[in-house]
Amino acid sequence: MATGASTEIDRRSKQRTCLEVHTAFIRGVGANRIYAGQMAVLGRSSVGPIIQQMWNQEKDHLKKFSELMVAYRVRPTVLLPFWNVAGFVLGAGSALLGKKGAMACTVAVEESISEHYNNQIRTLVEEDPEIYKELLQVIKQFRDDEREHHDIGIEHDAEATPAYSVLKTAIQLGCKAAIFLSERI
Ligand SMILES: [Fe+2]
Repeated sequence: MATGASTEIDRRSKQRTCLEVHTAFIRGVGANRIYAGQMAVLGRSSVGPIIQQMWNQEKDHLKKFSELMVAYRVRPTVLLPFWNVAGFVLGAGSALLGKKGAMACTVAVEESISEHYNNQIRTLVEEDPEIYKELLQVIKQFRDDEREHHDIGIEHDAEATPAYSVLKTAIQLGCKAAIFLSERI
Protein backbone atom coordinates (compact mmCIF):
# COMPACT_ATOMS: atom_id res chain seq x y z
CA MET A 1 0.00 0.00 0.00
CA ALA A 2 2.73 2.42 1.03
CA THR A 3 4.57 1.74 -2.22
CA GLY A 4 1.42 2.31 -4.26
CA ALA A 5 0.80 5.61 -2.51
CA SER A 6 4.34 6.85 -3.01
CA THR A 7 4.25 5.82 -6.68
CA GLU A 8 1.12 7.90 -7.06
CA ILE A 9 2.86 10.87 -5.42
CA ASP A 10 5.85 10.38 -7.73
CA ARG A 11 3.60 10.28 -10.75
CA ARG A 12 1.72 13.39 -9.75
CA SER A 13 4.78 15.39 -8.80
CA LYS A 14 6.44 14.45 -12.09
CA GLN A 15 3.34 15.54 -13.96
CA ARG A 16 3.32 18.83 -12.04
CA THR A 17 7.04 19.40 -12.69
CA CYS A 18 6.60 18.73 -16.43
CA LEU A 19 3.71 21.17 -16.60
CA GLU A 20 5.56 23.97 -14.79
CA VAL A 21 8.78 23.39 -16.73
CA HIS A 22 6.89 23.51 -20.01
CA THR A 23 5.17 26.79 -19.17
CA ALA A 24 8.44 28.32 -18.01
CA PHE A 25 10.14 27.11 -21.19
CA ILE A 26 7.62 28.63 -23.61
CA ARG A 27 7.59 31.83 -21.61
CA GLY A 28 11.38 31.87 -21.87
CA VAL A 29 11.26 31.39 -25.64
CA GLY A 30 8.84 34.32 -25.93
CA ALA A 31 10.98 36.60 -23.77
CA ASN A 32 14.13 35.73 -25.72
CA ARG A 33 12.46 36.50 -29.02
CA ILE A 34 11.13 39.81 -27.71
CA TYR A 35 14.65 40.90 -26.75
CA ALA A 36 15.95 39.63 -30.11
CA GLY A 37 13.35 41.81 -31.86
CA GLN A 38 14.23 44.83 -29.74
CA MET A 39 17.93 44.36 -30.39
CA ALA A 40 17.31 44.16 -34.16
CA VAL A 41 15.87 47.66 -33.99
CA LEU A 42 17.64 49.32 -31.05
CA GLY A 43 20.86 47.27 -30.81
CA ARG A 44 23.05 50.21 -31.77
CA SER A 45 21.19 52.82 -29.78
CA SER A 46 22.02 54.00 -26.27
CA VAL A 47 19.73 51.36 -24.70
CA GLY A 48 21.33 48.54 -26.75
CA PRO A 49 23.70 47.42 -23.95
CA ILE A 50 20.88 47.43 -21.38
CA ILE A 51 18.60 45.32 -23.58
CA GLN A 52 21.52 42.99 -24.33
CA GLN A 53 22.21 42.56 -20.61
CA MET A 54 18.58 41.59 -19.94
CA TRP A 55 18.57 39.31 -22.96
CA ASN A 56 21.69 37.52 -21.68
CA GLN A 57 19.91 36.70 -18.42
CA GLU A 58 16.91 35.54 -20.40
CA LYS A 59 19.20 33.23 -22.38
CA ASP A 60 20.43 31.70 -19.12
CA HIS A 61 16.85 31.12 -17.98
CA LEU A 62 15.93 29.48 -21.25
CA LYS A 63 19.03 27.29 -21.16
CA LYS A 64 18.09 26.01 -17.73
CA PHE A 65 14.49 25.29 -18.72
CA SER A 66 15.63 23.66 -21.98
CA GLU A 67 17.81 21.31 -19.93
CA LEU A 68 14.85 20.51 -17.68
CA MET A 69 12.65 19.89 -20.74
CA VAL A 70 15.16 17.26 -21.87
CA ALA A 71 15.59 15.80 -18.38
CA TYR A 72 11.82 15.39 -17.95
CA ARG A 73 11.23 14.52 -21.60
CA VAL A 74 8.65 17.21 -22.08
CA ARG A 75 7.50 17.79 -25.62
CA PRO A 76 7.11 21.50 -26.40
CA THR A 77 3.83 22.96 -27.61
CA VAL A 78 3.12 22.85 -31.35
CA LEU A 79 2.68 26.62 -31.03
CA LEU A 80 6.41 27.11 -30.53
CA PRO A 81 6.97 28.51 -34.07
CA PHE A 82 4.19 30.99 -33.31
CA TRP A 83 6.00 32.09 -30.13
CA ASN A 84 9.17 32.57 -32.15
CA VAL A 85 7.51 34.89 -34.62
CA ALA A 86 5.08 36.65 -32.27
CA GLY A 87 7.82 37.34 -29.71
CA PHE A 88 10.11 38.84 -32.34
CA VAL A 89 7.33 40.94 -33.85
CA LEU A 90 6.31 42.26 -30.45
CA GLY A 91 9.92 43.11 -29.59
CA ALA A 92 10.68 44.79 -32.90
CA GLY A 93 7.27 46.48 -33.02
CA SER A 94 7.64 47.99 -29.58
CA ALA A 95 11.18 49.10 -30.38
CA LEU A 96 9.91 50.87 -33.50
CA LEU A 97 7.90 53.07 -31.15
CA GLY A 98 11.26 54.16 -29.75
CA LYS A 99 13.30 53.45 -26.63
CA LYS A 100 10.42 54.20 -24.30
CA GLY A 101 8.12 51.93 -26.30
CA ALA A 102 10.61 49.08 -25.99
CA MET A 103 10.86 49.69 -22.25
CA ALA A 104 7.06 49.80 -21.93
CA CYS A 105 6.94 46.40 -23.60
CA THR A 106 9.62 45.12 -21.20
CA VAL A 107 7.66 46.38 -18.18
CA ALA A 108 4.42 44.78 -19.43
CA VAL A 109 6.03 41.46 -20.23
CA GLU A 110 8.23 41.25 -17.14
CA GLU A 111 5.32 42.12 -14.87
CA SER A 112 3.33 39.27 -16.41
CA ILE A 113 6.28 36.90 -16.17
CA SER A 114 6.95 37.77 -12.51
CA GLU A 115 3.29 37.26 -11.65
CA HIS A 116 3.33 33.97 -13.47
CA TYR A 117 6.46 32.87 -11.59
CA ASN A 118 4.74 33.85 -8.33
CA ASN A 119 1.72 31.71 -9.23
CA GLN A 120 4.04 28.79 -9.91
CA ILE A 121 5.80 29.31 -6.58
CA ARG A 122 2.46 29.38 -4.76
CA THR A 123 1.25 26.19 -6.43
CA LEU A 124 4.48 24.30 -5.77
CA VAL A 125 4.70 25.43 -2.14
CA GLU A 126 1.07 24.49 -1.54
CA GLU A 127 1.60 21.05 -3.06
CA ASP A 128 4.92 20.14 -1.45
CA PRO A 129 7.85 22.52 -0.85
CA GLU A 130 10.19 19.57 -0.18
CA ILE A 131 9.53 17.65 -3.39
CA TYR A 132 9.85 20.78 -5.52
CA LYS A 133 12.76 22.29 -3.58
CA GLU A 134 15.16 22.47 -6.52
CA LEU A 135 12.62 23.77 -9.01
CA LEU A 136 11.49 26.36 -6.47
CA GLN A 137 15.04 27.59 -6.04
CA VAL A 138 15.44 28.08 -9.79
CA ILE A 139 12.07 29.77 -10.19
CA LYS A 140 12.62 32.14 -7.26
CA GLN A 141 16.01 33.24 -8.54
CA PHE A 142 14.69 33.82 -12.06
CA ARG A 143 11.64 35.66 -10.71
CA ASP A 144 14.01 38.08 -8.99
CA ASP A 145 15.85 38.64 -12.29
CA GLU A 146 12.54 39.41 -13.99
CA ARG A 147 11.61 41.90 -11.26
CA GLU A 148 14.92 43.60 -11.97
CA HIS A 149 14.15 43.77 -15.71
CA HIS A 150 10.79 45.29 -14.86
CA ASP A 151 12.47 47.94 -12.71
CA ILE A 152 15.03 48.69 -15.44
CA GLY A 153 12.12 49.36 -17.82
CA ILE A 154 10.54 51.77 -15.34
CA GLU A 155 13.88 53.52 -14.77
CA HIS A 156 14.15 54.02 -18.53
CA ASP A 157 10.90 55.96 -18.80
CA ALA A 158 8.58 53.18 -19.90
CA GLU A 159 5.69 55.03 -18.33
CA ALA A 160 6.37 58.09 -20.49
CA THR A 161 5.37 56.16 -23.64
CA PRO A 162 2.24 57.60 -25.28
CA ALA A 163 -0.80 55.44 -24.43
CA TYR A 164 1.35 53.51 -21.96
CA SER A 165 -1.50 51.87 -20.06
CA VAL A 166 -3.36 50.82 -23.23
CA LEU A 167 -0.17 49.37 -24.65
CA LYS A 168 0.64 47.58 -21.42
CA THR A 169 -2.83 46.07 -21.07
CA ALA A 170 -2.84 44.92 -24.71
CA ILE A 171 0.56 43.27 -24.40
CA GLN A 172 -0.36 41.56 -21.13
CA LEU A 173 -3.63 40.24 -22.57
CA GLY A 174 -1.75 38.92 -25.60
CA CYS A 175 0.80 37.16 -23.37
CA LYS A 176 -1.95 35.61 -21.26
CA ALA A 177 -3.83 34.34 -24.29
CA ALA A 178 -0.68 32.89 -25.85
CA ILE A 179 0.31 31.10 -22.64
CA PHE A 180 -3.24 29.82 -22.13
CA LEU A 181 -3.23 28.28 -25.60
CA SER A 182 0.29 26.89 -25.37
CA GLU A 183 -0.52 25.09 -22.14
CA ARG A 184 -3.30 23.27 -23.95
CA ILE A 185 -2.05 22.60 -27.45
FE1 LIG B 1 13.31 39.18 -18.28
